[in-house]
This record gives sequence, C-alpha cells and structure tokens, in this order.
Amino acid sequence: MTKKGKIGLLTGGGDCPGINAVIRAVVKKAILDYDLEVIGIEYGYEGVVHNRYRKLRYNDVSGIITLGGTILGTSNTANPYAYATKRGDRLEFEDLSQTAIANIKALELDCLVCVGGDGSLTIANRLSRDGVPIVGVPKTIDNDVRGTDVTFGFDSAVYVATEGIDRVHSTAQSHRRVMIVEVMGRTAGWIALYAGIAGGGDIILIPEIPYDVDLIVERITDRNRNGRRFSIMVVAEGAKPKNGDTVARRIVEGSPEPVRLGGVGFVLGSQIEKLTGMETRTVVLGHLQRGGTPTPFDRVLATRLGTAAVDMAMNGSYGKMVGIQGGSLVEVPLEDVARGPKNIPRDEPLLRAARSVGTCFGDRPVQSGHRF
Ligand code: F6P
Repeated sequence: MTKKGKIGLLTGGGDCPGINAVIRAVVKKAILDYDLEVIGIEYGYEGVVHNRYRKLRYNDVSGIITLGGTILGTSNTANPYAYATKRGDRLEFEDLSQTAIANIKALELDCLVCVGGDGSLTIANRLSRDGVPIVGVPKTIDNDVRGTDVTFGFDSAVYVATEGIDRVHSTAQSHRRVMIVEVMGRTAGWIALYAGIAGGGDIILIPEIPYDVDLIVERITDRNRNGRRFSIMVVAEGAKPKNGDTVARRIVEGSPEPVRLGGVGFVLGSQIEKLTGMETRTVVLGHLQRGGTPTPFDRVLATRLGTAAVDMAMNGSYGKMVGIQGGSLVEVPLEDVARGPKNIPRDEPLLRAARSVGTCFGDRPVQSGHRF
C-alpha cells in the first residue's frame, strides 16, 4: 500500500473573519482532490513549539464557513525564534526554532500551510529558509500583506466599520457634533480609507499621511459656514500628527510587535473640541472589526486561496505565498512578503477619488495633476 500524503495547517497572528473558511477549503480540497491526511496545529506557532496538533477530518470542517475566529486557535505572541516564557515575573526569550523544526519533521508532513499576516509569514519565511517545506496564505483585517492586492478579513472589517460610521452619522447630525470613529489597521490606513470613503467621512486620517490639526479644524469650520453643522472623522489607529508620534494603547510583553496602537481618536477629540468649540465624541470600534461572520467576498477569497495553497503544496511550490494580483492567483516568494507591511502608496487612486469628493486627509494637497 502506498503511504498517504500529509500536510499540516496552522493559523498564526491576530484572528480575522474568513480563517475558518480557509481551513475548510484546505481540508476539503486536500481530502477530495489528493486523498491527503491533514494535521491541524493548534494555537499557531505555540503549537509547533509545544507539539500540539490534531487530525482534521472532512466532518470537522463541515459547516464552518460562516464562523468567525479560527477553530485551530491562534497566538499573536508565539515566535519560535524568540519564544517568550514567563519565569517568575520576568519574561525570558529563547530560540526554540530547532524544537519547532524537529516537531514538524516528526509529523512527516509533505508541506506546512501557514495562514498568517505579515508577522506570521515572516516567521514562515525563516522556517522555510531553515528547510521546512512551507506554503503561506495571507490573512488579516489590515490588508497590509505584501504581494497580494487583498487579504480575507479586510472586506468584513470594512463592512463593520462602515456600519459603525453610518450609525454615528445620524447622531452627529442631530446634535451638531463632530463624531470621530477610530478603526484598526496597525501602521496601514486601508480600513480607514475604504470605510471612510464608504461611510462618507468628511475627514479621513491615515498613518501614511501625517495630519495637521489646524487643517482639520479649517475643514470643520468651512463645513459649519456652509450650513453642515456636523462632521464625521474616520481615524486609523496608526494615524499621527505631522512631526508627532502614534498613540499606544498597550504593550504586549513577549509579542514580536509589542506595541498595540489605539487612542488617537480620544487625543484628537479633545483637541478638536477645544479648537472648534463643537462638542466632539469618539467611538473606538476595536475588536468588533475582527469578530463575527465573514462577508461573502471574504468567504470566496478564502476558498480560492485555500484551495490554491493545497495545489502549491502538492506541486512543491515551497517558500511561497499564494496571493491575488489583478484578480488572478499568483505565487509570491515569502522573502518578498517578509519585507514588511504593505502601506497605502502615495499614488493610490482611491486617495485621489476621495479628495475629488471633498475628503480632507488632514494635509494640504498639492493642486494639479499630481495632487494625491
Ligand atoms: O493585525 C490585526 C489587528 O487587529 C490590528 O488592526 C490591531 O492593531 C491589532 O491586531 C490588535 O491586536 P490585539 O488583538 O493583540 O489587541
């Protein structure tokens, strides 16, 4: 009897809507098209270090396409190359990559499919360089993974954020207030840009364009003069003033990226209230954007990427991530993905479209053909 092929599957980093859809896609495709055994690693890279896994059968993934989160669990702190362990009240970091690699080897996997954002895929790249056969699948609400136009989770987050903006719109108008909606996205402004445009935000602040608070005040005052006695501001958690810094919400000791952003909406709220004399309220959408059922778009995207990842695993396309570029599936070297997060480029057409409908980005745009 020939030995059955076997692949491993792990989900790392922050969860997002669509991860269960990708797990379902990988497991079903692996079983139906290749008769593979699928091993699900639990809690991302933590499971790789501590050897926690279970077999995923067809029925285990049946009916999970609508579920938020990840049935495998995840960790946004575990990194085998700098693994944090609490000793007393101190955190110690150890390189446990050899343990992780030995555990993966012992499972006799043909390939390990790693579903992750740029942090988890950077770790996947290191494991790949260290000889582990790996295929990456991008996920994150932030949409900041290099090599793919879009990640699943993003559309769902934009949907939730847009609904949040829509809901504050009417109350802003009734009370003649400035309403600030702070959205997630780490150092990238994709969620703020898309949800801000979709929700008709008057002012959108993104990390890629440091803001000048005086220009924001100018816009709000102009609107008042024109009889629009309320304003909606959509602010990315990573937004920062010109010559200033981001606002940190907490430090997660032991995390590869310990700073968790958040709170800029409140800082701006008190500044705007003081400078305009208008009542200002701030709403932070936070993890609401990460939970719950994925949108149809994210379910379809996750299914495309998950099934393609299994083909890559079987074709020996190791050390690569499956992505979407111009609507088509592509294979991107993990080395490229690991070059850091994908920010909004200066020539992003959506910036121009938003400015054309009067959106203020807290800067003074250059007038002419190349204002951005
Ligand atoms: O990367 C996804 C994300 O939700 C970011 O938008 C946000 O900055 C971060 O994770 C929050 O992390 P945590 O869940 O650890 O607070």
